[in-house]
Amino acid sequence: MKALYPGSFDPITNGHIDVIQRITKLFDHVIIAVLNNQDKKDFIPLRDRLKLIKESIEGTKNVSVESFSGLTVKYAKSKGADVIIRGLRAASDFEYELEMSQINYFLSNGIETIFLMTNPKYSFIRSSRVKEVANLGGDIKEFVPNPVYKYLHQKMAFK
Ligand code: PNS
Repeated sequence: MKALYPGSFDPITNGHIDVIQRITKLFDHVIIAVLNNQDKKDFIPLRDRLKLIKESIEGTKNVSVESFSGLTVKYAKSKGADVIIRGLRAASDFEYELEMSQINYFLSNGIETIFLMTNPKYSFIRSSRVKEVANLGGDIKEFVPNPVYKYLHQKMAFK
């Protein structure tokens, strides 16, 4: 079975990495699908995000990293993915994720979304908080994989 793990990953966090490590054990192949969102201003440019994700999952065999635009379900179908994976941190994620999985199910004529509960160690980490803390000069070392930490450290130093 092939799984698609879509998201903005701006930046990828330790919570995402935990989900990736777990789903690569459950599925034959995992595609990390990074949204190229024209409407949203990127914190990290798409090309760098892809590179950082690849560096952060180095050594994991059954995984690929790709970018996409448009509907997630269309991309999932074009890649032959059987399921979409999303992580759930807390009840506050639930409504948004429920709605999105239902729309996706409807639009795709039946593609399932499977949710993984985030490891409690990472349940407070979200990309938007990482951006905020990094922008304000806080230490994000424990929140993101090392390649992202180094990248942001450098980026902030030259701000
Ligand atoms: O990491 P995020 O920002 O929570 O990921 C959200 C994402 C990329 C999964 C979601 O915004 C998405 O699927 N966008 C693509 C457009 C789409 O298919 N939207 C859902 C149906 S309207």
